[in-house]
Amino acid sequence: MSQTRVAVLVGSLRADSVNRRLAELLRDQAPEGVTLDLVDGLERLPFYNEDIDNEADAPETATAFRARVAGADRVLAVTPEYNGTMPAVLNNAIDWLSRPYGQGALTGKPFGVVGTTPTPYGGKWSHADALRSATIAGAVVVEDVTVSQSSIDVDVLSDPEVLGKLHSAVARLVDFKQETVAA
Ligand SMILES: Cc1cc2nc3c(=O)[nH]c(=O)nc-3n(C[C@H](O)[C@H](O)[C@H](O)COP(=O)(O)O)c2cc1C
Repeated sequence: MSQTRVAVLVGSLRADSVNRRLAELLRDQAPEGVTLDLVDGLERLPFYNEDIDNEADAPETATAFRARVAGADRVLAVTPEYNGTMPAVLNNAIDWLSRPYGQGALTGKPFGVVGTTPTPYGGKWSHADALRSATIAGAVVVEDVTVSQSSIDVDVLSDPEVLGKLHSAVARLVDFKQETVAA
């Protein structure tokens, strides 16, 4: 059985990040045939700058990051919301993945986003912005692979309903067939 590799980008750098723990949980409970690859080190990517984005100057961190995501079959962002949008570290990562224009690592890559915040909205603006940005960067947003989960009154790391929604989102991302875009 062939393995589907999902590159996972976590939008929080906090050591005790709930979103990171969610990503780890999804990785640890991934179904057979699916590998969730948590791509660490987003904080080591310099701020995107066209002046250094060339063969001579591109930082090794960015080149390795692009290669790792390009080698994945799917991309999943797991992120909180900062000030009504996605955290800068995720935005910067998407910027690096968006170039070279038209040939970036996200080009044609099925993409989804999930995450949680301790507000009633669960990070939905962050998630909407991540999807818009990824689309412009060339990714293919997969319908219904968005979960904006409030953590008010629920332990998102153990609640069966929440985990069920998240596992289903991962399954839809993995099962997505490119042809369905044109249908
Ligand atoms: C700079 C900053 C801005 C934030 N802005 C928002 C926001 O706009 N909406 C929201 O739902 N939560 C916001 N929060 C709260 C985060 O969602 C919360 O800290 C969350 O737990 C972070 O996720 P993590 O546990 O994965 O680090 C903000 C937190 C920080 C530090």
